[in-house]
Amino acid sequence: MAASMKEMSCDSDLRPEELLKDLTSQFFEMVPVRKIKWKEEQASALVTSQDIQRSVLRATLQHPVCLIYPPSLSYRRYFMKTLVHKLEEYHAEICDEIYEAFADLLEQTEEEDDTLCYKTYTLPTGDQISLQESVNLVSQGTTGLSTWQAAQHLTEFVMENKASFQNRNILELGSGLGLTGIVTCHRCKPQTYTFSDCHPQVLFLMAKNIEANLTQSVPKFQQGSDRDKKIIRKIRRQLSLNAESCAEFVGDEAILVSPTQSQVFDAKCDGDEIQSDPNDLELNMKYWKLDKCGLYGTYKKDENVRIAKLDWENISDSLMEKLKPDFILAADVVYDASIMPSLVAVLQMLLKPNVDTGQVPVAYIASTVRNEDTRDNFLILLGSEGLVYTIIEPPKLSVFHYDQSVPIEILKISAQ
Ligand SMILES: C[S@@+](CC[C@H](N)C(=O)[O-])C[C@H]1O[C@@H](n2cnc3c(N)ncnc32)[C@H](O)[C@@H]1O
Repeated sequence: MAASMKEMSCDSDLRPEELLKDLTSQFFEMVPVRKIKWKEEQASALVTSQDIQRSVLRATLQHPVCLIYPPSLSYRRYFMKTLVHKLEEYHAEICDEIYEAFADLLEQTEEEDDTLCYKTYTLPTGDQISLQESVNLVSQGTTGLSTWQAAQHLTEFVMENKASFQNRNILELGSGLGLTGIVTCHRCKPQTYTFSDCHPQVLFLMAKNIEANLTQSVPKFQQGSDRDKKIIRKIRRQLSLNAESCAEFVGDEAILVSPTQSQVFDAKCDGDEIQSDPNDLELNMKYWKLDKCGLYGTYKKDENVRIAKLDWENISDSLMEKLKPDFILAADVVYDASIMPSLVAVLQMLLKPNVDTGQVPVAYIASTVRNEDTRDNFLILLGSEGLVYTIIEPPKLSVFHYDQSVPIEILKISAQ
């Protein structure tokens, strides 16, 4: 926890709820505990007032959202452990509720549940988007089971420029768990929004996140069919088996040691075996209408929302025919040199002017620049496909609490 609790005097005008709002947002986004920023007044008041200590509990562990969509158990434990340590360090008189809440957490058993958790993102309107995510940044041979900084950055850009996206057809590439698209649909009312990805488990959780957050006033994860429950159980189990084995980082670049996509649903470990065509999109037919090619689903509760199984390395012509975006969005898709040519080829196809409307599509791609060579190779490839780009101003709007120590850039790309 970053701010020092020492040397601070108690501010008699404190409004704990106001002060704690920011802490609540950071806790639910699962900002690493050591990086949580405390307002100075909070820290001071914590030491001097047991009421404020209780408010901290109510703003985090005992918050209604935490009861339904909790951050992972290990995160909650570490948060409480750090809080208790800090209070002890400054000789604060700690209220009983803090010890009780910490003891409760220590009693809970760590089961598969800790492989998937909920992260909740609070928008400036106060609306909350709760996503089911993996606790590991890279798991199951994909980076798509977590929300990355670039997605949060791109989402802020969209919110800041929402008029541009209203009533437009938007396609997102490599959507991952759906934060950018869900917020865009919430805030911008696009004509259509097509989420896409290639990884079966990512697509499955993305669909669950869309169902929970779009067309509901508060996020609500439906119980789901027996098949859905089996798939979730399987995802949890595979995540716990593979937690450490799927990725290596060389420098800051993720090198994926990936099982094939079909392996994801193939693993035969028990009676939960799920028979499915690995090429199909796994959607709950109660909520989604699948088209004939099995790669494109329309959300029944809002037909403007779609999901496509779009693999840049294995393009389906019939799917490409359906996609006529005005805007393409993508976050953190430029990290693997081996798939970059396919990604650029897909961009080149999608950015062709629309012959019916004369509209010239534009792509906005947000990337965390972990490695300048990777970024430069991407720019060279864009040029070789006849695409032009500019680096645009970062959004001024700061809504989420992501790490900005590594620069994030948004490229605007078009065919002319
Ligand atoms: C680093 S994640 C970013 C996810 C999300 N955009 C975010 O920023 O949180 C990269 C995403 O690209 C997807 N991806 C990787 N290779 C792909 C391919 N060949 N075709 C389509 N999507 C791919 C992954 O499944 C993953 O969801």
